[in-house]
Amino acid sequence: MAVYFDHNATTPLDPRVLEAMTPYLTGPYGNPSSVHRFGRAARDAIEQARQQLADLVGCRAAEITWTSGGTESNNLAIKGATDPLAPGGVLYGATEHPAVMEAAESLTRRGWRVEPIAVDATGIVDWAAFERQLAAGGVRLVALMRANNETGVLQDVNRAAALGHAAGAMLHVDAVQAAGKIPLDFRALGADTMSLSAHKLYGPKGIGALIARNEIELAPQHHGGPQERGLRGGTENVAAIVGFGVAAELARVELEARAAHVLALRDRLEAGLAALPGVCIFGAGAPRLPNTLQFALEGFEGEALLMQLDRRGFGVSSGSACASGKGEPSHVLLAMGYPRDIAFGAIRVSFGQRNREEEVDRFLQALRELAGQR
Ligand SMILES: Cc1ncc(COP(=O)(O)O)c(C=O)c1O
Repeated sequence: MAVYFDHNATTPLDPRVLEAMTPYLTGPYGNPSSVHRFGRAARDAIEQARQQLADLVGCRAAEITWTSGGTESNNLAIKGATDPLAPGGVLYGATEHPAVMEAAESLTRRGWRVEPIAVDATGIVDWAAFERQLAAGGVRLVALMRANNETGVLQDVNRAAALGHAAGAMLHVDAVQAAGKIPLDFRALGADTMSLSAHKLYGPKGIGALIARNEIELAPQHHGGPQERGLRGGTENVAAIVGFGVAAELARVELEARAAHVLALRDRLEAGLAALPGVCIFGAGAPRLPNTLQFALEGFEGEALLMQLDRRGFGVSSGSACASGKGEPSHVLLAMGYPRDIAFGAIRVSFGQRNREEEVDRFLQALRELAGQR
């Protein structure tokens, strides 16, 4: 039986989410902007989902804007928050997802000074370097992810918020990988804007959210109708929004049990890997997501190992799904100071709720056999 170990790339749809979505795909529901009963039913479903998501992430329902996913949310936050301002400085963590890095870098065309924030060997922000960048003055926006998609390393977002705010900068947090895996509280983090995506927490693909504090002025990046307070025009994807809401509610109720389940698997894998020769675990020593383990085996190239594991029925990643196949080592590992040959060896395992101990044992056995064949 094939084994799926790539939940940071995407998760399977929870059957309970599908059940909640189905009436909005097959039923007689109208356009949420229509005033008749069909429209009102769709509108009510959207607002219920907004509250469900707000309850998961510690924000007010009115602070949520539906988007098409984490990528759009990051673009809306970074471009939308800087659009109304005169150009200044933008800082982003060197291990951010491309949706943050590329959105930030695009601002250079509008006259912004855009710089990455260095990280240390475990993937944590180099705070001294960050403070120096802030002290240089003029920084208006800082983007820092809560959890890294490759290594699972968690950043101290509160500290970034305190330092950034003291220097007059807003803080955007990409929480796409954190939501549903660890407790997440928008207010407590001190963030001004925060990105989420449903398909990382057993919801449907193509639906996300941007949380933004009321005081943050965001310029729309999609112009159109008055939907989402004019911030994101276009008829809402009602079924997907309903699915995101239910996925968020399930994640809230089941968070602790889910985290404990994947942590046990992660620890089992990590203990088993320690017995293999020449293993390097990325982000070891830093706080990490409970479900994620990225490693390299000496003498193995990541893409080749990934294909060999695929032939044996294991679906893993060689880094971020987006970087795979590009023939470039992970920018995350390079930023952590790993040489290219080690970064090229990276394999990421990300566990989910359906994974079992026996699958971890089979995976370790496969690795032992492959290591023995070298
Ligand atoms: C940290 C992070 N941010 C953003 C995204 C993009 O999310 P989406 O696939 O919903 O556009 C991902 C997806 O891999 C991610 O891991």
